[in-house]
Amino acid sequence: MANKYSVPRGTYDILPDISYKWQFVIDVFRTVAREFNYKEIITPIFERSDIFERSVGETSDIVEKEMYKFEDKKGRIFALRPEGTAPVVRSFIENGLSLKPNSSKLYYLGPMFRYDRPQKGRYRQFYQYGIENIGSTNPYVDFEVIAFAYMFLSKLGLKNFELQINSIGCENCTKDYDRALKEYFTPFENDLCSDCRRRLKKNPKRVLDCKVKSCKVITEDAPSMLDYLDEECSAHFDQVQEYLKQMDIPFIVNPKIVRGLDYYTQTAFEFIDTTLGAQNTLIGGGRYDKLAEQLGGKNLPGIGFAGGFERLLLSMEEEKLSLGKPVNPKVYFIVLGDEARATAFRLINNLRLSGISVEYNSDKTSMNAQMKMANKTGAEFALILGEDELNKGKIIKKNLADGEQENIDLNDIVNSLKSK
Ligand code: HAM
Repeated sequence: MANKYSVPRGTYDILPDISYKWQFVIDVFRTVAREFNYKEIITPIFERSDIFERSVGETSDIVEKEMYKFEDKKGRIFALRPEGTAPVVRSFIENGLSLKPNSSKLYYLGPMFRYDRPQKGRYRQFYQYGIENIGSTNPYVDFEVIAFAYMFLSKLGLKNFELQINSIGCENCTKDYDRALKEYFTPFENDLCSDCRRRLKKNPKRVLDCKVKSCKVITEDAPSMLDYLDEECSAHFDQVQEYLKQMDIPFIVNPKIVRGLDYYTQTAFEFIDTTLGAQNTLIGGGRYDKLAEQLGGKNLPGIGFAGGFERLLLSMEEEKLSLGKPVNPKVYFIVLGDEARATAFRLINNLRLSGISVEYNSDKTSMNAQMKMANKTGAEFALILGEDELNKGKIIKKNLADGEQENIDLNDIVNSLKSK
């Protein structure tokens, strides 16, 4: 019978045979962050829930249906963070980061929480990597943020992805566009799903994002946002495209990208895996010039992106890319007899102090059992210390790959392993 204590639905354990793969991807992400001069920011995993309600938006699926909300003992309402942008902007304002050097380009890694129907590539606790660049409206910054994501996916060796970009315009453009969408959708109102009928009244752009087939068919001929951009938004979007072309970053313009969060203005983009199934958005991002104002700050435009690790790993496995190797100990220490033990313990400690990883299992006593363990752990070398060796001031160093062994002075063993 299955144990009644199991992991919550939509979550999973990252076990040792997978965690090294995560580490590999995280290392590449941190490397790209260093190359673009982004600094790490770590915010709490829960925040006041109104931070998300105000910014991600009351009519977004995340706020309407997916937030893990709870009341604390003093009656305050918090939410497990469903995304990272609003908390980063909250922290940016609260800590006055606009006045501190090297603080406007930030990256983060960590778990996010959304109560959604779990499926391949979609979980209730998932892990995001993301960046936020706060303080500039310059289209060069849009380009650099997109270039960061492109470089990250490229460095991992991924090929089957496509960059899609759009401009959602500013408040000005949106007013006319929303009106046009309402006019277009109203005759089809009865054919829309119940969610979209509600969206049509409150936020008609959300209809464009609906995954229900019948709604998708209706959206096909809907007016395009690009026809409603004002001069400034249009010029901004042209410039972003120009930079992407100059740097040979391939993209397509997809006017249907509206993104599932309400804080976006102007540039919006997604990196889509062209072979994954329904959950195929590897990375999503965009500009959010009004978000800081919604959270009590002023004049702090920004742009960023986030992606889920789970989908990234699925894509990498699909494309048969290397995901690093498990890290095995360098040395497996074999001790024979009680007399050798005290010397062995000191030596094990010295090796570890010198940065050499050592495994030792005190439960195994026979040579045979210890040698079997040595091979199982995948160590490079076995060090063997018995009474004979101890009396001669020596230790046996055995290369476990080719079986070759040498006797080494006890005093030289740390150095002999360090140089390998
Ligand atoms: P988002 O599109 O909601 O944007 O999520 C970004 C990415 O997180 C998705 O493309 C996907 O890879 C991953 N993701 C989202 N939900 C799940 C889930 N339930 N399970 C697994 N992976 C998931 C944001 O979160 C914005 N904060 C991005 C951003 C940053 N925009 C500007 N700056």
